[in-house]
Amino acid sequence: MSLPWFENKFPLYLAPMAGVTDPIFRTLCKEAGADVMVTEFVSAEGVLQAWHRNRRYVEFEQEHRPLGVQIFGSDPAHAAAAARIIVDAMHPDFLDINAGCPVPKVVGKNGGSSLLKDLPLLQSIAAAVVQELGNDCPVTTKIRIGWDAEHICALEACQRLQDAGVQSIAIHGRTRSQQYGGQANWQIIDECAQAVQIPVVGNGDICTPQDVKKARETTAVSGVMIGRAVMNAPWLFARARHYLNTGEIMDEPTPQERINFMLRHTRMALESGHYGDEIFTMRAMRARLLAYAKGIPGTKPLRPQLSRVASLAELEGILKSIAY
Ligand SMILES: Cc1cc2nc3c(=O)[nH]c(=O)nc-3n(C[C@H](O)[C@H](O)[C@H](O)COP(=O)(O)O)c2cc1C
Repeated sequence: MSLPWFENKFPLYLAPMAGVTDPIFRTLCKEAGADVMVTEFVSAEGVLQAWHRNRRYVEFEQEHRPLGVQIFGSDPAHAAAAARIIVDAMHPDFLDINAGCPVPKVVGKNGGSSLLKDLPLLQSIAAAVVQELGNDCPVTTKIRIGWDAEHICALEACQRLQDAGVQSIAIHGRTRSQQYGGQANWQIIDECAQAVQIPVVGNGDICTPQDVKKARETTAVSGVMIGRAVMNAPWLFARARHYLNTGEIMDEPTPQERINFMLRHTRMALESGHYGDEIFTMRAMRARLLAYAKGIPGTKPLRPQLSRVASLAELEGILKSIAY
């Protein structure tokens, strides 16, 4: 079973980002040209104990396909049982195992990047999920290059995951210790991509169309995954695809187009009811609005207001005060 989105294409993935890549943002990224997406992660234990409460983390629209649901866990049998529940209920295009998350809440439960300290366990988890899902759903994994600079293990992890039957691996080119600092190591990503037969997706510090092209031309990755750079600029997907296809750089949206985008995202969030009523939605949107504003000249004085904005009408008023 090979993954069709790698056939004759260099897919651009939207990286999973908890608290950011909710269904509304995924819809906007799909429109902007993201080829493949992954949900925010859900705990395998949470799925087993209270699927009805945890399901909301991984809800998706049919238009988001091809899409993977991401789980984290540290127990092979539990991960497999959780994967089965998710696949039977939601029929994602792939099931992704998180072996990269650095946050203490996840690492403390021996999930996420702590699996990089115990590669036989990582392999057992992947093998158990692959065996459970059989031909029902392909399994992929997202890793970092190692726990810290003294323990770089991406190559062995990739080989073990391939042996376990995983169909593709996304590699964030940082160690757990680096968190999000320093620079992603694309040399290690490239070595891994050359060493395994399954597609490797490169991740880390892709910020421009030129970065995407460089990854395609100078490494053996089969696609790239983009996270922080699209948080306030989903149009990077379209600009990157255009550059790959034509070698020409598309203009960035104008400040007014960015403002319109902020308003549209907010209206879609309100209409979806995903975060509850208006005040809860606006609270959830504040960080998103501040991120968008960073790319718009003249918005610095508005940041305190944006960080407290409580209604759509108030947001419209704040944004009207910027004249272009
Ligand atoms: C706010 C935030 C939340 C994230 N949540 C997840 C997650 O749920 N699962 C995951 O595998 N990675 C998560 N990541 C890591 C990203 O998917 C990605 O690997 C990382 O940001 C590096 O890519 P970038 O340099 O393009 O941002 C998160 C990153 C950020 C900034």
